[in-house]
Amino acid sequence: MDFQKLDLLICQKKLKIGVIGFGYVGMPLGIEFAKKGFKVTAFETDKEKIKKINNGKSYITDVKDSEIYNAVKKNLLKATDDFSYLKEQDLIIICVPTPLSKTKEPDISYIISVCEKISKNLNRGAIIILESTTYPTTTSKIVKPILEKSGLKAGKDFYLAFSPERIDPGNKKFNIKNTPKIVGGIDETSGKIAQKIYSLIIKKVFRVSNSDVAEMVKLLENTFRAVNIAMINEFALICDKLGIDIWEVIDAAKTKPFGFMPFYPGPGIGGHCIPLDPMYLRWKMKKMNFKTKFIELADEINSKMPEYAIKKLKKRLKLKSLKGLKILVVGITYKPDINDTRQSPSIDIITILYKEHAKVFYYDPYVKEIEICGGKMKSIDFKNLSSYDCVIIATAHSKINYKKILKESRKIFDTKNALKGLKSEKIITL
Ligand SMILES: NC(=O)c1ccc[n+]([C@@H]2O[C@H](COP(=O)([O-])OP(=O)(O)OC[C@H]3O[C@@H](n4cnc5c(N)ncnc54)[C@H](O)[C@@H]3O)[C@@H](O)[C@H]2O)c1
Repeated sequence: MDFQKLDLLICQKKLKIGVIGFGYVGMPLGIEFAKKGFKVTAFETDKEKIKKINNGKSYITDVKDSEIYNAVKKNLLKATDDFSYLKEQDLIIICVPTPLSKTKEPDISYIISVCEKISKNLNRGAIIILESTTYPTTTSKIVKPILEKSGLKAGKDFYLAFSPERIDPGNKKFNIKNTPKIVGGIDETSGKIAQKIYSLIIKKVFRVSNSDVAEMVKLLENTFRAVNIAMINEFALICDKLGIDIWEVIDAAKTKPFGFMPFYPGPGIGGHCIPLDPMYLRWKMKKMNFKTKFIELADEINSKMPEYAIKKLKKRLKLKSLKGLKILVVGITYKPDINDTRQSPSIDIITILYKEHAKVFYYDPYVKEIEICGGKMKSIDFKNLSSYDCVIIATAHSKINYKKILKESRKIFDTKNALKGLKSEKIITL
């Protein structure tokens, strides 16, 4: 596709867009293109999700049912598991998971599997963009050769770029439209095409010289977070030993208008990004005989936080064991105001509490049911708080009634400083 044809397709709203993997990243992205009048096909393997989309329903907190419903009704969105429709797409964006294996090594099998499908259905002139987080060179050394199995040549018969997703689920201020986007092509034309396409829905699109750089940008951003969170978690441990309130220290430090950025401690890190992405870089560098010391240390400190949190609770309750205690964990998601429980530290906390033989319950307005330790748990009604020996605030959702927790609970372990400014003998902080 040359720029003239691309302009024409854009101008006539005829650019057909396929989004592979319609999850936390794919859905908000696809819906923005549909809102601009482009026909979007969501390629999914999850039949339940396909059914929901085609019935006009959302399963992501940041996307409203009405947004999906309107797009489907206007014939601008449909979901399918029939990958032969890939043939019809001018633009294909890949947003499939990139998890870690049990040994914390990258699992890019989802990317490989969808690229095999694309290569069998690749349209001459199509643009392929990878958004799934991965290690540098995935786009140029893994995706490109698979797509070229089609007989078409990258940079000549089709275009290929990487663009990291920067979505921050639950963030009310920054969304897909006002968060600057990075793109990097396997060649200059691919990069420029990708930049032009994203500019349709995003205010600022910043093009870097190639896809390796774009992949590395994402890993720098998330390693920066993992390392700084680990540093502040270590500070929390240090402050505990010194009898100093870490939260007050951070609040004071952040009055400095330059050279300081606040990070906050917590009972662990979660989600699909911060605990995982640095491991992709660690693996890549290990293969090159380079030890990523910051990443290793951050992983070690962050992974121990749930254990540390429970240890501190026991110390403050002056108990050797939590056996038989009735404990309510408030907030089960990995961050506030979303319904995503992947790698949530709350799950680690509940698992430790089970091992301690405590009687554990949870409340989360976003998650009705969850599987933990092989069993199903249901969110309890938010009442009778005085019946619990301790309430642990593990995720600080903004819609939780903290005054009620303070008033009714007998003991509160506030791991997120949700009760900031409130003084009570009942409160234990991290
Ligand atoms: N969630 C975030 O906040 C976030 C932020 C930035 C980057 N990312 C990255 O984006 C990628 C996607 O993450 P996500 O959070 O959207 O994951 P997700 O699990 O919410 O979505 C992925 C979707 O892909 C579908 N899928 C799996 N295999 C498929 C296949 N073969 N064909 C088609 N669909 C398939 C799944 O059913 C799922 O709906 C990951 O690489 C992640 O690291 C995520």
